[in-house]
Amino acid sequence: MRKNIVAGNWKMNNDLAETQELLSDLKAQLVKEPEAEVMVAPAFTNLYETFRALKDTPIKVAAQNMHQAENGAFTGEVSAKMLKSIGINTVILGHSERRAHFGETNEILAEKVNAALENEMRIIFCFGEELEDRKNEKHFDLVAKQLKESLYQVSKENWENIVLAYEPVWAIGTGETASPEQAQEMHAFVRKDIAEKFDDKIAQNVSILYGGSVKPANAKEIFAKEDVDGGLIGGASLKAVDFIEIVNAF
Ligand code: G3P
Repeated sequence: MRKNIVAGNWKMNNDLAETQELLSDLKAQLVKEPEAEVMVAPAFTNLYETFRALKDTPIKVAAQNMHQAENGAFTGEVSAKMLKSIGINTVILGHSERRAHFGETNEILAEKVNAALENEMRIIFCFGEELEDRKNEKHFDLVAKQLKESLYQVSKENWENIVLAYEPVWAIGTGETASPEQAQEMHAFVRKDIAEKFDDKIAQNVSILYGGSVKPANAKEIFAKEDVDGGLIGGASLKAVDFIEIVNAF
């Protein structure tokens, strides 16, 4: 069901003590029931601590990645079953940093999407173009390809377990935020593409988040756009006061 969501992707930040401090600050800052669904995605080493610290709060917890195999000789990897065993039912897949640094292709991501859904997990599926794609006006083609090759194999029923996150790579960690109009244009394109490939109900019910240098100063204007349902927040999620200000930006 479509809802406003603000998720913090902590990436490879925070050891155990820093995690405990940030969690304590988040709980102290969250003084009112948030209008949006709120999530944080710590590194694997901090997932269980975070799950336990937040279980009696409105803040949900997601993993930043998972492997597509059930188990086996995949040194360093973590499976859906392992995540669920510690109470984690949501996973970010397709982040551009996984695609760029760890060779995650559309085909590999389709396998991860299928494995997550088979394990009844909820997915925040990331997609987005490089600056070169946009300069060459290929950004819509690129995004359509990412969705078609990694996500459009899912059944109609499974779309209720999918959240989308449009993250233009050129806006991630750069301070170069996409304009609200650019975000709206891509979100509307994606919603239309889903309507054509599946149906209007699915297209209207899927939450589409924007990610890429969302800050307290720009969140309100971006989130006000018709097809923007919140944000996937990197740097600004590492400071409780900023993250909660973004959570309250609806
Ligand atoms: O997944 C969210 C992230 O990629 C955005 O990072 O630092 O630009 O908010 P940032």
